[in-house]
Amino acid sequence: MCGIIGYIGKGEAFPVLVSGLNKLEYRGYDSAGIAVNVDADADADANEDELNLQKYVGKLSEIKFEAVDGSIGIAHTRWASHGKVTKENAHPHLDCRNEIAVVHNGIIENYKELKERLIDKGHSFRSETDSETIAHLIEDFVSDGFSFDDAFVNALRMLEGCYTVLAVRKGENRIAGARKGSRSLCIGLSEGTEGPGLFPSSDVLAFLEWADKVIYLKSGDVFFADTDLNLKIYNLIEDRIVERPIDTVKCDAEEVKKGEYEHFMLKEISEQDETLLRALQQDKNTVTEICEEMRRAVGTFFIGCGSSYHACLAGSYLFSEIAKVHVNTALASEFENYEDFLTENTLVLAISQSGETADVLDAVNAAKRKGSRVVGMVNRDGSILTRDCDQLLMMNSGPEFCVLSTKTYTSQVVLMAMLAYAYAGRCEEGLEKIRSLYLDIYNLTSRTVREHVHELAEMLYKRKNIYLIGRGLQYTTALEAALKIKEVSYIHAEAFAGGELKHGSLALIEDGTPCIVFVSSNNRSKILSNAEEVKSRGGYIIGVSSEREEVFDFWVKVPDAGELNPIIQIIPMQVLAYELALLRGLDPDKPRNLAKCVTIT
Ligand code: AGP
Repeated sequence: MCGIIGYIGKGEAFPVLVSGLNKLEYRGYDSAGIAVNVDADADADANEDELNLQKYVGKLSEIKFEAVDGSIGIAHTRWASHGKVTKENAHPHLDCRNEIAVVHNGIIENYKELKERLIDKGHSFRSETDSETIAHLIEDFVSDGFSFDDAFVNALRMLEGCYTVLAVRKGENRIAGARKGSRSLCIGLSEGTEGPGLFPSSDVLAFLEWADKVIYLKSGDVFFADTDLNLKIYNLIEDRIVERPIDTVKCDAEEVKKGEYEHFMLKEISEQDETLLRALQQDKNTVTEICEEMRRAVGTFFIGCGSSYHACLAGSYLFSEIAKVHVNTALASEFENYEDFLTENTLVLAISQSGETADVLDAVNAAKRKGSRVVGMVNRDGSILTRDCDQLLMMNSGPEFCVLSTKTYTSQVVLMAMLAYAYAGRCEEGLEKIRSLYLDIYNLTSRTVREHVHELAEMLYKRKNIYLIGRGLQYTTALEAALKIKEVSYIHAEAFAGGELKHGSLALIEDGTPCIVFVSSNNRSKILSNAEEVKSRGGYIIGVSSEREEVFDFWVKVPDAGELNPIIQIIPMQVLAYELALLRGLDPDKPRNLAKCVTIT
């Protein structure tokens, strides 16, 4: 999954591209590049029109692009899917003549056969990527006499798969772009002081400081624009010129900055007292309608990936405990195994903070093909899932830049709890109980707790394995805590349901093995017995609990919130993961091999 930004207008492209890449780096950070159309008439240093291409391997903080004049440009930050992390595989990709530059996010499924055909026609490729094929296809049609616009459309028609693509051509006062399938593409519009401009991008965050209006393109949309901001949108599926509404960007440029925090991860962990309250800002009618849909449904599925799946699991326990209702859960990537059971009476609640996770979008499309109703629980306004669902709950967490989900995870659990209470007819009671956690969360993100957790991190950061156990709702917290630790510190962390240990995993325990135990008042004795099983085999017990217990070797105090424990017990674990990453000299915001939004299946 990658980040794309372009610019065309009366201003300079270079500053827009570089600042946009920095805002998109959460989408991938293996390598980055820019291509700027240098117009000889406008640039005294240029003897002739040229396409200035710069691309590098590494994170943006390690890259220094050279400033270049030009009012048309495209840029890309990459998360490698096809081809190793090399300069040749970095985008933008050029055609043979170095006249056409392309940036792409997605998968061209038939690129091998297209590439072979193009090589047979004499094209020479520089990279291992599927994306480079697009540049040569456009070149091929231009060589056959087609205009740049027509060549771009003809090339798109030959592609199978999903894509977001931007293209420019040397000497051409144009930028072309297109979107197909689960890859978002929007166009920022500005009349700003820097000169009016258009900002095609994967995400509004890339142009927040430049534009306050935005057009969200739909699958099949192709657009063309020039420096006079003449914008034409055409839909390949509908085969006609289309109009798309101009929205106002709903995001604050200030939220895009770290403020006084060293990393977005700590900033976003620390925001959770506020995001708890913001998650509760929901339209009561929507909540009521969703509960009605659940009552009418013959089978409800909560689906998601990663942390969002853990929120689904917590939701199923919450509905069981609060509403006395059974709800199915499924990993979105495994949902195809349930398709035979989906009917028009099924309800699917899809959780995705990005609203762009391909596994989730594929599962939602499968459900819609069967006539099932779909509720989305999403954080990113304007994302694909917000447009593909029948009912929508926005998490209101604000942008989350750290690859790890922290504030969005707790917001998801908050919304699950709120729905469960509403379903049980205890809405006001539930809202009060959830609101009452505000101060606990504020305290759990305090310096005092961080210093205490840092002591634990000092003991754990050289360990190869960390195990975590919990029962019921605490099991979902153990799963989420394990993911946090793995993602950001690269320490192997594995979560077990407390009762499962003796069925095999106990063999892993040896002298000093750290085991984090999540205790709740409603299953205290059982989980403490499981802790004793570990301790008696040499394990080092770290208790997350409201009370110190004899079996603990280290205690992290967290108030007991009963069924709402998943909202607060995870917070010191998020801090632990952060501290482990720092002690291991790692970047908590951009862990290796990962990206914030996984738009490939
Ligand atoms: C969680 O820390 C990870 N970033 C990852 O597991 C994430 O939760 C998953 O990719 C789902 O993302 P989504 O909520 O945007 O769909």
